[in-house]
Amino acid sequence: MKGARASRTTIALKLGMALSGIVFLGFVLAHMYGNLKAFAGHDAFNEYAEHLREIGEPMLPHEGLLWILRVGLIAALVVHVYCAVVLWRRAARARTTKYVVKKQTGATRASLLMRWGGLTILLFLVWHLLNFTIGKVNVQGGATNDPYNLLVDTFDVWWLTLIYIVAMLALGAHLHHGIWSAAQTLGWTGTAAKRQRAKTIGFVIALIVSVGFSLVPLGVLAGIITK
Ligand code: HEM
Repeated sequence: MKGARASRTTIALKLGMALSGIVFLGFVLAHMYGNLKAFAGHDAFNEYAEHLREIGEPMLPHEGLLWILRVGLIAALVVHVYCAVVLWRRAARARTTKYVVKKQTGATRASLLMRWGGLTILLFLVWHLLNFTIGKVNVQGGATNDPYNLLVDTFDVWWLTLIYIVAMLALGAHLHHGIWSAAQTLGWTGTAAKRQRAKTIGFVIALIVSVGFSLVPLGVLAGIITK
């Protein structure tokens, strides 16, 4: 009876991870698309950033929709991290005796990758928000009230671009495996053909997101996106 309850809550936790993960996926796809406006130049990018703050006016106050999105994202983050931590602790407890020989199976490698990848993305997010939203840190000492110029000043610095590219690789790997796990949780991997489809979809989405995001920092570094 105890076992049945535990496996029911494990399923609920995995569902929590999958559903909050889908919220993030929607956000990163939209955010990546928006970032590509940097290739259209200063005014197009800044108008887009301003437009995001005006959507829904006058029904909603200034930045109203943005705040609804922010609250939704924070809630998804809390659910995602909480479920992950509980699931890890549960998996560690289930293994009452430590492995004598540490065999690296595919499953343990994947879960280690998800754990460290997730932490890397979380650390990146802290720096990212300090960089562009909460702190608006311009390491070149230039203006911080112009989103486009802040972006160019940031990625003109090679090591900042490198940090972002490494984070986007971690994000790509996380999405690749995460989409596969979510498909399993949601019961979309019942046959060999469905499994193959889930793997392909996961790979293609991960590639689009990591390459799509990386294009802007690399575009600045290559001198294609300039002030
Ligand atoms: C190369 C990759 C990325 C670039 C160049 C980038 C760029 C930006 C910029 C310029 C802003 C400020 C927008 C504005 O002020 O209107 C921003 C905000 C933000 N970004 Fe990114 N971003 C990247 C990747 C990501 C990723 C992977 C995530 C999530 C995992 C993310 C999450 C956010 C969040 C949560 C905000 C704050 C939105 C808000 O509340 O106003 N970004 N990003």
